[in-house]
Amino acid sequence: MTIRRLNDSAIRKLRASFISTVAQCVVELAQNSLDALATTIEIHVDMTKFFIQIIDNGTGITPEDMEKIGQRYATSKCHTLEDLAHVTTYGFRGEALATLAEVSALEIISKHPNYYDTYCTILKGGQRLQCGPTRSSRRKKPGTIIIIRDLFFTYPVRRKHLSENGFINELENVKKSVESLALIHPQVTFTLVDASNDSKIVTTKKATTNISTFRQLFGSSLAQNLDSVYAEEDDIKIDGFFSLRGFHTRVYIYD
Ligand SMILES: Nc1ncnc2c1ncn2[C@@H]1O[C@H](COP(=O)(O)OP(=O)(O)OP(=O)(O)O)[C@@H](O)[C@H]1O
Ligand SMILES: [Mg+2]
Repeated sequence: MTIRRLNDSAIRKLRASFISTVAQCVVELAQNSLDALATTIEIHVDMTKFFIQIIDNGTGITPEDMEKIGQRYATSKCHTLEDLAHVTTYGFRGEALATLAEVSALEIISKHPNYYDTYCTILKGGQRLQCGPTRSSRRKKPGTIIIIRDLFFTYPVRRKHLSENGFINELENVKKSVESLALIHPQVTFTLVDASNDSKIVTTKKATTNISTFRQLFGSSLAQNLDSVYAEEDDIKIDGFFSLRGFHTRVYIYD
């Protein structure tokens, strides 16, 4: 047996496997919006169509960056080994959008406050199909819209696995992921819509404490039976709360 390097398309395909579910995809996109300091994040998911749309009011992306976005290792968050030691954002690898551009048709529409125009770029199967100002998707306020169509179109087996496990199951995973992010970021308004029937499945309004977000998500009676926990040592801080009531199911367990 001789050792040979994998060819580039095989490498790209293998690397793309770190996002293998709709929930992971939603988390990557929502984390990007949080890194862009968005205070409103609206997510639409149609599981049956492998469609995701996320709209934020974050910093937006400059036209220059729109040309680089979706390339592997292209990131605005981390550039040197020293930066890696002080990462304060969710993202730092510059891999998520490149991966999504491999496995879907990815459209990014963004307005940066320093520019009058809104810009749009479309990537599919790792290729950039279009990039430039857009009139049809023009936005007045800064922020970014990311649309994923035909997610996992290159992975029929992954799609089959997701449909066999049930779209409802996966939608529940998406819901739990969004709820977890909302609990960590009470100052952000989150909305999750099931785009297949236009129903809202998660809504949180901006709050000052995560207990208040907890109350919005799970109701006052559960919120009354909580105790808080806080611990700090060196760089590690644990801040949270736990339920004083037991439940028979794992429905409130977020791992
Ligand atoms: N919603 C957004 N608003 C503003 N900029 C964005 C948004 N989403 C992505 N970007 C820009 O695109 C770049 C690439 O995003 P991507 O998620 O691929 O990488 P990352 O967040 O830097 O690292 P990671 O792969 O670890 O998530 C980001 O560094 C950021 O500059
Ligand atoms: Mg990211």
